[in-house]
Formats: sequence, structure tokens, C-alpha cells
Amino acid sequence: MPADADAAPAPPHSAEGTTGSDTAPCLRILLVGDIYARPGRRAAAEWIPALRRDRQLDLVVANAENAAGGHGVTESIVRKLYAYGVDVITTGNHVWDRAEFLPQLQRQERVLRPLNYPVEAPGRGSIVMPTRAGQPVAVVSLQGRTLMHPVDCPFHAIQAEVERLRQLTPIIVVDFHAETTAEKAAMGWYLDGRVSAVIGTHTHVQTADDRLLPAGTAYLTDVGMTGAQDSVIGVRPDIAIERFLTAVPKRFKPAEGNVQLNGVIVEVEPATGRARRIERLQLAAAAGGGSDDDREP
Ligand code: FE2
Repeated sequence: MPADADAAPAPPHSAEGTTGSDTAPCLRILLVGDIYARPGRRAAAEWIPALRRDRQLDLVVANAENAAGGHGVTESIVRKLYAYGVDVITTGNHVWDRAEFLPQLQRQERVLRPLNYPVEAPGRGSIVMPTRAGQPVAVVSLQGRTLMHPVDCPFHAIQAEVERLRQLTPIIVVDFHAETTAEKAAMGWYLDGRVSAVIGTHTHVQTADDRLLPAGTAYLTDVGMTGAQDSVIGVRPDIAIERFLTAVPKRFKPAEGNVQLNGVIVEVEPATGRARRIERLQLAAAAGGGSDDDREP
């Protein structure tokens, strides 16, 4: 069943597949791109509850590895994200930034660290979540290793994990937290037909290559950042520029001001796990966003 044979023209920010034999309503899964510091949390507070309601979402996944001041995440922020409507939190290389949070990776099964760390690392890389519609959805946090801190091979790690998860559910969403476009694109093709979606995170700028791959996997190289619009991938521009000009290390501080939420909604056939539609979201507020009173910047 080719995914790209639909006669109807797709709207500008979505890709649609064919109408298959599965007539049950699709599950709608939202993945919110890297929530960065307080501006990202304000954007999450502003939009996630409304999206959850208005788009009738079955599952909300958010990458929150930079949600606490741009460095890691905290227990109180995790609780807030749950309250906004997030079901599963994915992470990446920054999940280790706060030592006090590491025990939470053992306790909070809905907070994932990348799958392909050594087994001795705390936490877990996947979860199978029940949904309102009845069909469980598996979520995997996975990390690339090209131009990143060395970790185990993501391709070998995900192969074994997908085989295990497919015994439990055909609906599998992979957050691939990686630096290079090529590694992400290769992962999309590697998993095509075996998972419902491969969505990239980490580079903080949304790419425009959303599509359904031929065997039915929704793919996007990077979903983008949820945080301050007037920033260098979330950081105050003056600090980022100074670092480039001087090459002297200086701790980044999060930018403030206008906020944006970048995300992607994937619609999936419940019986097969095949993606039927992918839609990029770029929501921006001229001012404000929701409130966040956490002591973290
Ligand atoms: Fe990252």
C-alpha cells in the first residue's frame, strides 16, 4: 500500500498517505520539540492544554532535556509538564546535567533517557503507554552519535528494541535526538515500516522535510525548539556571539521574550501502526505565553 499515492493535495505543512483498509479512527500523537528553559515552559503552558483538547490528542510526548534553565530537567518541572497534558518526556545528552535528578530516572517511568546508553546508566529508554482509544503506544528516546558524545550504536540498539516492542504494540514513536541530518535520515529509512514515526530533536530549528516514507513511517529531521524566538537556539544572542568571537567558554543563559512552540502531530492507524498523516506545528506568540513560577530560569 504506497503511502504517497493520495490524490488529494496535502496542506502546506502536512503530508498524507492513502486511505487504507483500516477504517478505525487514527490515533493522534503530538511530539513537542525541545522545551528550553522558562520561555519553553511558558509556551508549553500556553499551548499544550489547548492542543490536547482541540486536536483530540491520544498521546503527548515532549522532549524536555533542556527544560530547566537550558540544562537538564527537575522533578518539579516534570510534574508541571504532566499537568499541562504531557504523557511521556523524552530527553537526550543533557538529561545528565543535574545529578539530583538522576534518581528520578529510576522512579519516574514516564521520563525516558536515551535507549542506547550502557545498561549501567540509570533509567530506561522506552515505555508502552495505554491510550484512551485502547491501543497502547510505545515511545522510544534514542540518541545519535555523529558529532556527539559517544554512546552505543543507535541502529543496533533500536533494532533489538523494536523487535521487543512490536510484540506489545504496532504503534511505536521514536524521538531520535541527534546532531546530523544524515544520521537522522538514515534512521528514518532504517525504521521505515517498522515504527510509526521517527522524529528528530536536538538541533532546535524545525526542518521542512516532513513526509511519509514508502512503508508507512512518518519522518521529520528535526521538530524544532519550544522556547524563546529571539535567541540562538534558545540562548541569549549576545552570549552566543561573544563565544564565537572570543572562543572563550562562557555559561549560556536562556533568552527571554517572545515564545514559540514547535511540534508535530502524527496520525496513526491503530491496527497496523502505519502513519497516515504528519503535520508540523509552529505556534508563536507576539508576547507572553503561559505563566511559569518555577525558580529555575
Ligand atoms: Fe540535546
